[in-house]
Order: sequence, then C-alpha cells, then structure tokens
Amino acid sequence: MTEQFEVNGLRAVVTGGAGDIGRCLVAGLAGGGARVLAVDRDADALHDAMDEWASERVSIAVCDITNEAAVDRLFADDVADGLGGIDLLVNNAGVMVRAAPDETEFEHWRSLMSVNVDAAFLCARAAGRLMKPRGQGVIVNISSIASIKALDGRVAYCTSKAAIAHMTRSLALEWGPFGIRSNAIAPGFIRTRMNADLRRDPVRTAAMTDQVPLKRFAEPEELVGPLLFLASQAARYVNGHILFVDGGLQVT
Ligand SMILES: NC(=O)c1ccc[n+]([C@@H]2O[C@H](COP(=O)([O-])OP(=O)(O)OC[C@H]3O[C@@H](n4cnc5c(N)ncnc54)[C@H](O)[C@@H]3O)[C@@H](O)[C@H]2O)c1
Repeated sequence: MTEQFEVNGLRAVVTGGAGDIGRCLVAGLAGGGARVLAVDRDADALHDAMDEWASERVSIAVCDITNEAAVDRLFADDVADGLGGIDLLVNNAGVMVRAAPDETEFEHWRSLMSVNVDAAFLCARAAGRLMKPRGQGVIVNISSIASIKALDGRVAYCTSKAAIAHMTRSLALEWGPFGIRSNAIAPGFIRTRMNADLRRDPVRTAAMTDQVPLKRFAEPEELVGPLLFLASQAARYVNGHILFVDGGLQVT
C-alpha cells in the first residue's frame, strides 16, 4: 500500500524553492527520493538553502520566472537537458502586497500578478510542453485560502490566488486527456516570513488563530505530506482538485 505514495525517482521542479515553504517542499521531495530542481530569483537564498538541503538530489537555478524567455531557457537547459525531463512541477513562487484597494498602486498589482499568475502559467506551459508528448506528468499549484476567503488589505493577493485555483481546473480539463494531472494546494495560515509582520501583533495573531478550527498556524513542513500525496500514484485519479491545508479555516 505505502509504495503508492512514493515519489522516488521523480524529476521535480519547485519554483520559489528558496522561500520558507519552498525549502520544505524541496527537502520533502528530495527526502522521498525525487531529483529536484529548485528555482528562485534570489541567488543568495538559493545558495543558503542548498547548504541546508545538503542533498545530491537537489540542484538549483537562478531565474526570474516572470520573464518568458528566461522560463523557456530554464526548461530547455536546466529541465530538459539538466534534469533529463520533468515529472512534477510545483508552482510555489508567490508574493504578497498589503494595501487597501483604494491605496493599491497599479504597479504593485501588476507585479504581484506577474509572479502569482503569469509566471505560474509560463512554467505550467513550459512543463506541459515536455509532459504532453510523454503522456504523463503532474502539476501542483500553490494557491491559498485567500482563493475563497476575502482577506482584508489583500485584494491583489486574493484575486491572484483565485486565478491560480481556476487555472488549475482549466489545466486539469485541457491536459487530463494527455495523462497530466493538475491540482492545487490551498494553504491556510502558515508560519512564514510572508505573515511575520502580522504575527508580531498578538491581537492580530489571536484574531487569525481564533478563526481556525485547529486553533493554530501550520508549520511549512505540514504542506509536505499533501504535496507527496498529490505527486504520487496514490492520487492518480485526483485531477482538478484544490486541497485545502488550512486546519479547517475554509469552513468558518
Ligand atoms: N505563508 C503563508 O501563510 C501562505 C499561505 C497560503 C499560500 N501561501 C503561498 O505559498 C507560496 C510560498 O510562500 P512562502 O510563505 O514560502 O513565501 P516566501 O516569500 O518565503 O517564498 C517565496 C519565494 O518565491 C520567490 N520568488 C518570488 N518572485 C519570484 C520570481 N519572479 N521568480 C522566481 N522566484 C520568485 C522568492 O524569492 C521567495 O524565495 C506562495 O505562493 C504563497 O502565496 C503562503
């Protein structure tokens, strides 16, 4: 039974691999025997993370994935040639802008969309082009509880996470016939630098955890199990699903 959950031998690409959640996802996949290419635009953070992973199964690529030509080069050189192909894409890179709608600068809106939506599409398109001729592959997009819950001061972020959830369903429809499964993980409140400012305020922290039936933030490591499930044969009939990993926040 447990062998269905294996990711041993998979060739995986994780974007935003040097971030708080990305580091854990890379470590979890490599720990399960996958060969992982961690992609990030932050070269220093990638090199730090490389020391942390200390695994010969992990390689890194510095790339700003909002750049179409750079993504196409990444998938031609580092993925097709370097990794020898791709079985799993994890679209994890993401950014946050906090501002009231009327104070949201268009420039900030656009740059958030370019990472959270455009770049995820560019990477999915490049991965799909490699997966389709082989008739197999898995895409896991990192959406958010913000895809279904409006969170104050985060209009651009909420919009982008709803977009990526729906992109997931579209890809599931379009590429399912080619053996490519597309799913998303929608995390709730995860203890990362993205919300460190909110967690410094005890009143806001209590207000956040009070809404969560499990009454706490999650650690980034708690996303690894759901990813391994979606990536593995255990989820071979799971397609177009948004898996909330949110301590039950979506029901409140
Ligand atoms: N932290 C949370 O509570 C939470 C909750 C729900 C969803 N998420 C989602 O999880 C994902 C990871 O979040 P995190 O908390 O680890 O954030 P993080 O800021 O720690 O990591 C994000 C990483 O993405 C990289 N990145 C950003 N733009 C890039 C680009 N153009 N090209 C390449 N790399 C780029 C950053 O350099 C960073 O290393 C994001 O998509 C986020 O929206 C986070």
